[in-house]
Amino acid sequence: MKLVVTGASGFLGREVCLAALRRGHDVLALGGARAPTIPGVVRARAFDLCDEAALEALVLEEFPHAVVHCAALPTIETCLAEPERANKLNTGVPKKLAQLCFHLGAKLVHMSTDNVFDGVAGAYQPTDRPAPLNLYGETKAAAEVEVLRFGREHAAVLRTSPIIGNSPDGDRGLHERLFAAWKTGRPTLLFTDEIRQPVEVTNLADVAVELCERANLTGLFHWAGCDALSRHEIGLRVARHFGLDAEALVRPIARADVPSAASRPRDLSLRLHPLAGKLRTPAQSFDEQLAALRVPRGSEEWYERQTGRKVVRRLEKGVDF
Ligand SMILES: NC(=O)c1ccc[n+]([C@@H]2O[C@H](COP(=O)([O-])OP(=O)(O)OC[C@H]3O[C@@H](n4cnc5c(N)ncnc54)[C@H](OP(=O)(O)O)[C@@H]3O)[C@@H](O)[C@H]2O)c1
Repeated sequence: MKLVVTGASGFLGREVCLAALRRGHDVLALGGARAPTIPGVVRARAFDLCDEAALEALVLEEFPHAVVHCAALPTIETCLAEPERANKLNTGVPKKLAQLCFHLGAKLVHMSTDNVFDGVAGAYQPTDRPAPLNLYGETKAAAEVEVLRFGREHAAVLRTSPIIGNSPDGDRGLHERLFAAWKTGRPTLLFTDEIRQPVEVTNLADVAVELCERANLTGLFHWAGCDALSRHEIGLRVARHFGLDAEALVRPIARADVPSAASRPRDLSLRLHPLAGKLRTPAQSFDEQLAALRVPRGSEEWYERQTGRKVVRRLEKGVDF
């Protein structure tokens, strides 16, 4: 299959390219400002997806069987800082891609987020109504509507949770951000009553590519790990997994103690059915996710001082993780 992957210079997009190669597909990897460098990917380039005419020309020229759309402004903070760019990139670009894929009869796999929900109820099903609390969630919820408007029969929208896993620069995964905070020497305050359901980046990438392969799987789906956990428990389990002093590094805090927490979604846990029953790729427990984690790049010295353990790097996916 011929796949175009957007956001390929980013955390998830890179893994999607690697998953596509593993599964025998031909990949065109598109980064934004950076041309992706991914082992085994021979066709990679920097490309501004907001240039609609150039995007149309590229997709028509490439004539892919599927597009996996990972490019986005993917955080609450960055969307607030650049609202115009957030609207364009998070809503306008997927709309254009959906139109183009509809025109070609190509499958579009569009990455969305748990942040389309307000977090009041938790355990969300794909049929539950979005009610975003922030601009990031709003732009992604609007994109879902646009993608499905054109792609009811060609597109899969995949809502997912915070992504855990090893990133090449050691700064994008959930555990990598915890390490960065721990290295500052202050304990991390983590909510005991804010629930998330992490997903491991390689597992999510496999699901995205499997959705390209399965023409009949279209519509709105949820994918995450199997375990919904409080942020506090996530922090404790990551620290313990690495043999760190979890109680010293991670401190509990309740949402009621932080006035601004009321504007954050409380429980963004996702129900994985019906997708979980239809895929070959299994959802992972949090323990399985932990087993894939490495000490982040740049944290080796700190880690060795804390634990007395030596960090041994090994080459994995072109990076010595
Ligand atoms: N990360 C998470 O925990 C998480 C959780 C739930 C859902 N998601 C969703 O998963 C998807 C991937 O997230 P991620 O964490 O992998 O994001 P990321 O690492 O921040 O990557 C974003 C990508 O978008 C590209 N991009 C930005 N502006 C662009 C433009 N104008 N034209 C072309 N490309 C552009 C960036 O390219 P350059 O850097 O080269 O400019 C980069 O490759 C997003 O849809 C996000 O909403 C992520």
